Amino acid sequence: MTLATTALPAVRGPLSAAVVDALTAGKAPPATVDGADPLGDDLQLALHICYELHYRGFPGIDPEWEWDADLLRLRAEMEAVFLAVLSGSVAGGSDVAGTLDALLVEQVPGTGVSHFLRDEGEWWQMREYFAVRSIYHHKEAEPHAWVIPRLEGQAKAALVAVEYDEFGGGRAERMHSRLFADLLAAAGLSPEYLHYLDRAPACALATVNMMSLFGLHRRWRAALVGHFTAAEITTGPSAQRMDEALARLGADPACRLFYTEHIEADAVHEQVMRQDVVGDLLAREPDLAADVVFGIQATEFLEERLGAHLLGSWRAGRSALL
Ligand SMILES: [Fe+2]
Ligand SMILES: [Fe+2]
Repeated sequence: MTLATTALPAVRGPLSAAVVDALTAGKAPPATVDGADPLGDDLQLALHICYELHYRGFPGIDPEWEWDADLLRLRAEMEAVFLAVLSGSVAGGSDVAGTLDALLVEQVPGTGVSHFLRDEGEWWQMREYFAVRSIYHHKEAEPHAWVIPRLEGQAKAALVAVEYDEFGGGRAERMHSRLFADLLAAAGLSPEYLHYLDRAPACALATVNMMSLFGLHRRWRAALVGHFTAAEITTGPSAQRMDEALARLGADPACRLFYTEHIEADAVHEQVMRQDVVGDLLAREPDLAADVVFGIQATEFLEERLGAHLLGSWRAGRSALL
């Protein structure tokens, strides 16, 4: 059986069109990104297509494109402007413990997406949330696996222990990506890999592209670790709220299982990531502290943008999907 893949998405501007033209017609991609908005739909989709070549690829597209020098050169240009916006949007610093602690202190308490869904969300909004998030959860824990050969000792061993859980502890039906596919099906949505890519706005693609970028570059290994730790710390409390939301809405048990699984698992993962992974990594390479902080803050920045888009759309009575 071959891996389920997804068709090439509809283009969103000249850059994503150039990437699709390269893949489908062999046309040389441009060498620069020429004023494209680093967080906009066109660049984020173009980047997402380039990264997908490293995951499952696209049906009918030659897998050799993964290492095509011209495409990689364009990808590097896109990554450079994306990284520049991320680093210009976060506070920076090297206080890893303080930055992690701050994740659990809400700036304006109770204003996040999971709070909204718990307190007043409607079923159509919940389904939109599932669809938008599916781009991320179909790849749950995957870009994080790229960091394994870039770590040593306890940091490596402990990160693999967390990954073991994310991948279902050896059981395909318990993989978190599979639990999310089951959730989609139980909510009457398509569980197919990246089925909702064409509906996902740039702010959702950016959260996934950041993980791929950090995962694929050894240089950003500490940012990947920071991102992973931030995700584990924030998921437990938000999974609790999501479960309450789904209980209130009378959702199918398969929708709730994905979140109940994370309430307990991530309480453990948080500690392992903090102490054994971040702690050991920084004991070996203290100079990486600023990159860990960058990974945490960039995650927070992009998650807040996505949350603002979702809540802004819903409060205006609009769909948050494209
Ligand atoms: Fe997970
Ligand atoms: Fe986890």
